This record gives sequence, C-alpha cells and structure tokens, in this order.
Amino acid sequence: MPLPSSDRPDVTARLREALLAADFTADGLLELLGAPAYTALARSETVPALRATRGDGAQASLVRLFLLQHPVPYARVADVLPVDVLLESGWLVRAEDGAGGTGELRATVDVRPYGGPDGEDWFIVSDLGCAVGGAGGIGSRDEGVVLGVGGASTTLAGITVRKPVASALDVGTGSGIQALHAARHATRVTATDLNPRALHCTRLTLALSGAPEADLREGSLYEPLGDATYDLIVSNPPFVISPGARLTYRDGGMGGDDLCRSIVQEAGERLNEGGYAQFLANWQHVEGEEWTERVRSWVPRDCDAWIVQREVQDVTQYAELWLRDAGDHRTDPAEYAARYDAWLDEFEARKTRGVGFGWITLRKSGATEPSVTVEEWTHPVEQPLGETVQAFFARQDYLREHDDAALLAEHFKLAGGVVQEQIGLPGAEDPEHVVLRQHRGMRRATQVDTVGAGFAGVCDGTLSAGRILDAIAQLMGEDAVLLRDRTPAQIRLLVEQGFLEPVGQ
Ligand SMILES: C[S@@+](CC[C@H](N)C(=O)[O-])C[C@H]1O[C@@H](n2cnc3c(N)ncnc32)[C@H](O)[C@@H]1O
Repeated sequence: MPLPSSDRPDVTARLREALLAADFTADGLLELLGAPAYTALARSETVPALRATRGDGAQASLVRLFLLQHPVPYARVADVLPVDVLLESGWLVRAEDGAGGTGELRATVDVRPYGGPDGEDWFIVSDLGCAVGGAGGIGSRDEGVVLGVGGASTTLAGITVRKPVASALDVGTGSGIQALHAARHATRVTATDLNPRALHCTRLTLALSGAPEADLREGSLYEPLGDATYDLIVSNPPFVISPGARLTYRDGGMGGDDLCRSIVQEAGERLNEGGYAQFLANWQHVEGEEWTERVRSWVPRDCDAWIVQREVQDVTQYAELWLRDAGDHRTDPAEYAARYDAWLDEFEARKTRGVGFGWITLRKSGATEPSVTVEEWTHPVEQPLGETVQAFFARQDYLREHDDAALLAEHFKLAGGVVQEQIGLPGAEDPEHVVLRQHRGMRRATQVDTVGAGFAGVCDGTLSAGRILDAIAQLMGEDAVLLRDRTPAQIRLLVEQGFLEPVGQ
C-alpha cells in the first residue's frame, strides 16, 4: 500500500486539527472505549473496540478508520475529516470491493493517538494492522512493513535520559517514536533507518504530532552519518537472533547477536564527551561462556556502562515468541515446523542455549578506568527510569572519586521509600535474612547483614559513616578497626544501588 504524501504539510496540519477537534487522543480513546477495550486494542484484539464503536460519533468513525481499519461511509468520514484533500494526498482511499461497499473509505495507514510525557497529543503513523504485535501476530508479512509502538518502544522511551541536549540520534527509527520523544529535549534530531518506508512514516509521525522535522538518513546503522557525533544516541534495533533475515523491523540481517554488538561497539566513536547511548538488545547465552563477559566485551573504550539483563529465554521459548510475532503459527503446520526447526538448527550451530534481553546504557566519560556494571534484574521496575539511569552514573562517578578511607569520612542518608524486610521461619526469634527494598525506580532489593541494616537505619546525614561504624562496633562488642575495614564494600554497594545517598551530592 503506498504511503500518504509527506510533502503536503498543509494537509497534515489540517488532519491534525481535525483529529484533535474530534478528541481522537489517548485520553479521548480511553473514555470512548473504556479501559478493557482500550487495553485489548493494545494487545491487537479488536473485537471489544468494534463493539464500543457501533455508534455514529466522530471518534467512533476515526477509531474504525485508523485503528480497526474498517471501511467507513463517505458521509460519516466527511463529517469529521477534510475528505477530498486526504484522498488526494493518499491518507484515505475509496474502499474498492463489494466487501467495503461503494461510497466507503479506508485509511492507508494506522494512525494511533499517543500521549506524550507532558500530556502532548501525538500520533504514531505505521503500516496497517501492525501498530502492535498481538496474539495473532502482525497483520502483514511484507519484508518492509513498518510497525507502530510496542512494549519495546515504550521501554526504551522510558529509560532514556531526558536532559536537554544539542543533538540526538535515533538508529532504526521505524515509526519515529524515539525521534518524537527526542524532539522534546534535543535541538537537532537525526534518525536513520535501512527501510525508506520507515523514514517516510517517521516524517508523517513528526508532522502529524506537531513536532519539528528531523534529519532523516537512509542506510545501515551509523553508515549514513558521515563523521557526525551526538550527545544522545538511542536505538531499539532489529535485535532478533534469527536463522535468516525476513522482516526488516526485527531481523538486522547479521548473524547471531552481531548487529547488537556492532551498534554498541561503534557508539563510542559517535558520542560526544558526557553523552549517553541507550539500547535495547538481545545477546546469546553460549555454552562455556559467561553472558556477562560477552556483553561486557561490547563496551567501547572511554565509556562507562550499565547493562541490565531483564529476561532470559531458552531457545525454544525464543523461537516460539518470534514465530508467533510473525504470525507463522497461523500458517501451514508443516511450514511452521520447518521454520521452528531451522531456528533451533541456527542456535545449535552457534552453541546457543538461551537468549538474554536487556538494556545497555553507555556514557562517554573518558575515564581511564571506566566503570562497567553488568547485572541481572528481572523484577518489575517503575518507569520512566531516565532520571534513575542518570543518577546511577552520577553515583559511579562519586564512588570512583572516593576510596574506602574517603567513603568513611562521608555522610549518607537513607533514600526515600526504602523499607526493611525480615525473612525467616514463622515464630523464629531472629530473621535469617534482612532485605532492604526500594519502592521507586528500579525497585531493588538487596540482602544486608546486621551491620548493614543497622548502618542504613542510622543514616540520616548527621554522623559520618566511620562514626556510625564505631558506634555499631561498641554496641556489638566488635573491634572498631576490623569493622571499618570490612564494611566499606557493603556501603559501596548500597550507594551504587541507590539505597544510600551521599549528603550534599
Ligand atoms: C524494532 S524496530 C524499532 C522501531 C522504533 N525505533 C521503535 O522504537 O519502535 C527496528 C527498526 O530498525 C530498522 N532497521 C533494520 N535493520 C537496520 C539497519 N541495519 N540499520 C538501521 N536500521 C535498521 C527497521 O527498519 C526498523 O524500523
């Protein structure tokens, strides 16, 4: 299906105006459809929304047209939209066959209302039937199909550091969602994609959302950028590890996790000093190799890194996930079996036992000894995490600047919302474990010993860490020197993970 013209800003502006006038917004949809139908739509289930839009209203017509991709009678569309110019510029077409009936119109793209972080009314333009991958898989199996916003897109948007910057780069922009977010806090936004159709959708998304134009470049990864460098790089790349490239939106066309490795490794040269690069990625868990070492080896020189593995799937779960994503489970069973088999062959050849999914953040610090943290945290977190990410790197700087002696002279306070949990057998006098738990951000939990728990409990910024340890030593009848010797590692961890905050930082 040809895409609407991106050279008619006048038409895009009129369409935006009409959509807003009809309250075709994220909030408006929630009100019209109700939460169950609204969230079902986000799972690609359309029946509840079809039932909720049986009436004649303007919003109902727009939902049927742009989200459910049903034909709508000309007269009903004309009540809401400037039909003739939208037909002329390719946003709408006349329904061709008897199924649609004469005098009915269809949309050529999915236009999905999306609420920005400050309540902005944005619209994401993508291919029909592909706005989300749901239980039935995507609606098209064309190689160059452009997907809308999915869980991965919003995860990356949520973890991105949102400080004001001069330049931002979105690699593999797709429908343009990351570029749209970046336009709020970056003076210049550049977006690349291998797929020209994706760049076209991005141009429409930005224009229809009322955002400034971006510098759009066609080509692979950083290749179309010359030697330009950026303050922020984001990418939700085609990270799927598959037996062969089929769908551009997810299969990068390189073997195994090579595409993720390349995009991370090459980011070092593309970042300005102090800049962040943030990626979603998949990595192989290879027999006889620590996954942590594999991803650690991707970190470029001069960069600090924080890598979080959020999930691991075995090879069968992984193959099934992506077979379903493409709708392969709805094809001929023999074809499905052959594809599944090919996927497992590929993993076997690469000695891959599982696949990790996670977040990679780099910060170009230029430090002689960069700090690289690779960890697994699979529990729920509180998005958005952009500020948490920035604070993590600030704490790394702090810890790098303070050796153990300096740390003991510092004052700390317990971060807000941290609670202590005692775990042990019911009725037991003493807990077996003491756990500190955060209720914000990463929502971390960490086990501490009695000294750690006591220390954290006293930290209100009044006494230095060393003085607190001396008091604890006296209470417990321990040698104060030994305690001062063995505790800084625990304090370091509590600071690194955000349980303790240095006073005055
Ligand atoms: C998973 S989609 C992400 C889309 C969007 N940025 C988001 O967050 O929803 C990956 C995008 O990367 C593009 N792509 C695939 N191979 C690429 C390559 N080698 N270089 C640049 N982009 C590529 C695809 O066309 C697709 O638009």
